[in-house]
Amino acid sequence: MADQTDGRRWPARPAGIAFGGDYNPEQWPEELRKEDLRLMAEAHVNFVTVAVFSWALLEPAPGIFDWGWLDRVMDDLAEAGIAADLATATASPPPWFSSSNPETLPIRADGTKLWWGSRQAFCPSSPLYRQAAVRLVEAIANRYATHPALAMWHVHNEYGCHNAACFCDISAAAFRAWLEERYGDLASLNEAWGTAFWSQRYSSWEQIIPPRTTGAISNPGQQLDWARFCSDELLACYLAEMTVLRRVTPDVPVTTNMMSLFKPLDYQRWARHLDVISNDHYRLNFLERPDTDLSLSGDLMRSLAGGPWWLMEHSPSAVNWQPYNLAKAPGQLVRDSIVHVARGADAVGFFQWRASQAGAEKYHSGMVPHAGVDTKVWREVTALGRHLEALSEVKGTVVEAQAAIVHSWESWWAAELGAHPSAALDVASHIRSWHCALWDRNVTTDVVSPDDDLSRYRLLIVPNLYLMHDEQAAKLTAYVERGGTLLVTYFSGIADGHDHVRLGGYPGALRELLGVWVEEFYPLAPGGTVQLSDSSAGTLWSELGRADDAEVLVSFAEGAVTGSPALTRRQVGAGSAFYLATHLSGAHLNALVSRLLDESGVEPVLRAPQGVEAVRRSSEDARYLFLLNHTDQEQDVEASGFDLLSGVQASGRLALAPGGVAVLREDPAG
Ligand code: GLA
Repeated sequence: MADQTDGRRWPARPAGIAFGGDYNPEQWPEELRKEDLRLMAEAHVNFVTVAVFSWALLEPAPGIFDWGWLDRVMDDLAEAGIAADLATATASPPPWFSSSNPETLPIRADGTKLWWGSRQAFCPSSPLYRQAAVRLVEAIANRYATHPALAMWHVHNEYGCHNAACFCDISAAAFRAWLEERYGDLASLNEAWGTAFWSQRYSSWEQIIPPRTTGAISNPGQQLDWARFCSDELLACYLAEMTVLRRVTPDVPVTTNMMSLFKPLDYQRWARHLDVISNDHYRLNFLERPDTDLSLSGDLMRSLAGGPWWLMEHSPSAVNWQPYNLAKAPGQLVRDSIVHVARGADAVGFFQWRASQAGAEKYHSGMVPHAGVDTKVWREVTALGRHLEALSEVKGTVVEAQAAIVHSWESWWAAELGAHPSAALDVASHIRSWHCALWDRNVTTDVVSPDDDLSRYRLLIVPNLYLMHDEQAAKLTAYVERGGTLLVTYFSGIADGHDHVRLGGYPGALRELLGVWVEEFYPLAPGGTVQLSDSSAGTLWSELGRADDAEVLVSFAEGAVTGSPALTRRQVGAGSAFYLATHLSGAHLNALVSRLLDESGVEPVLRAPQGVEAVRRSSEDARYLFLLNHTDQEQDVEASGFDLLSGVQASGRLALAPGGVAVLREDPAG
């Protein structure tokens, strides 16, 4: 039933690129199904995710199951040749469950209880919730194990989206058990949490609670372990379901949909437990560059997967959960979808098939809009279906990157705890700005963990990797010694795994590698800038220090930090290690990126006009150049190959329509 790829199972169906989305027929009269299936055929839909929020219908009373409607949906899908990504339906316990087990409701840090009447209203540590979920999964798995429509299991839905942390007494007990497992004895925990400070020493495990709302700053060690625990608790929920599915259907791949750079869950820890890495990405219109965020999320997913991955959900047009929900421009549905394919997705899914008529998401766009099919959205959905079919041969090809951004979730959690030098430090936005600068040059970038194999990259960018283990610092050193180019930015290497400051000068774990020594941070006030010796300016951060064993390329030229290094370079073995002690943006950031690319020898995929995204997917015998025009002007691109979308051969030059897309099958000799 499933192919094995790199230790991961991959769904055997659909054969080409998967195209479809969340299908919630339970919201509609059954008579509509014929029409749904006819439209799915028209749009070339070949997979749907079903039963995501169906617990209340599937188990209307404890232990009583009603399969009738889902049996008919699955049978109809099988007959229509549409693969089912069948959900385990555990994301929203029904009201009968929550009302009879109120101790399963999640509690916020301030004690507020979150009630049923929405979704995901459960405490991740609740044994009652876990038992009920596993019982449902067991029943669904047994019911549909051999169903011909079943292609993949969709565990839960967006773990932690609304209940990433629960602060109830049950969670407190689970936290204590997790801590005992981690530390063994209380003395080690007291040491790790630095409880000598503020009279916080624990003399019994029972005294330990989650970091509930406190009058002053709560203990950072406690907060960091709490973040680790919360991610692990939800992972345990996933693993409990996965274990049942693996036992009942060992050949059917298992996934759960991730949410791009979602802070509460350490996806680098989760990834190894998923057969298919799948992702939900929604355009964040409040970002400065919402377009490039699509590519970043794809790059992250590809890196987690180590190959192709699934785009499980994105929106056909507007969402309904932002303050102002912008509809997509004409053509954008197609282009945005293909951005994900360019970045390695072998599936394009939407939330959802039909825009709901009722319920909390009725103003969220659907593939079939409220207005019906004589619409922009439907025409683009069908165009996309044709395009994805034309791209079938791309399936399974890979994207190679010479550059990577190094990111770790535990460092992210620790870096953004309160009471730090600057509240403006925002790891995700800094990752985005480095990624953007590389995107603008069409340099394909992976997003990797400091524990991954780093040796295959020519250039590593390490933005604000605050918490660093000794082995990670050693790995970065070995990387540079062997010829890599490394850029580390401020507030990196500062703390160890317990969030204890490394003494003797910043940047702690990386002092020797970078050859710099910093005695004091001088963060800037909001909106402040600091002049640099090359006539540029930094924002957000500056520091007082010296270069012990590094070439100073730029120094601070203003205030108390005048003369301290702002940008340094140290030759280490065959490579070089750069350190940036401030925050750059715009032209200054771009100039530094250009220098790093020159030094590392990283080549862009293509030199294309600004706003044209170029990414290559390849296999041993084929190369595909994806070109995506993010501007509203026609763009001339120098490229050759057969455009799989238009069927036209480009010889040396291609005119890319405003917002247009081309996927060129290139001459493999290149
Ligand atoms: C998430 C969920 C869906 C839906 C969409 C709306 O991705 O998984 O159920 O709520 O958001 O954008």
